[in-house]
Amino acid sequence: MTTEEALVAAARAAKARAYVPYSHYRVGAALLTQSGRVYTGCNIENAAYGCTMCAERVALFKAVSEGEREFLALAVAAEGERTASPCGACRQVLCEFAPELKVYLAGPGGEVRSLTLAELLPCAFGPAHLKEAKP
Ligand code: THU
Repeated sequence: MTTEEALVAAARAAKARAYVPYSHYRVGAALLTQSGRVYTGCNIENAAYGCTMCAERVALFKAVSEGEREFLALAVAAEGERTASPCGACRQVLCEFAPELKVYLAGPGGEVRSLTLAELLPCAFGPAHLKEAKP
């Protein structure tokens, strides 16, 4: 099994743990760290809808809170006919730590689309912009 296949399998497995009583739309994510660990996430919804958290950010926040800072690849798997893709907020949050992240989007029929975070979030705002600010 390739790294890509393993990561996609982990994302698909994480999808089963989604807490989605409102949208019924399950999403799973798996994030590979530079150190070789995999952190998974699922979307977690809330009766106050705006408090919902996406699968991708759950995976990233789990990893960062465990001390991880360097990431190589992310796989995302969701339900439905269309291949899911990280929302804008998730792209921005991922970019903070891994602007060169590889992203694998698992499609409904087992196909996987491979691209990069830079392709998903061109012309990104990042930490370098803030370094130019004066106190
Ligand atoms: N969702 C994700 O988990 N990731 C995305 O990138 C897009 C949207 C979730 C949030 C919510 O639980 C459901 O999908 C519908 O928006």
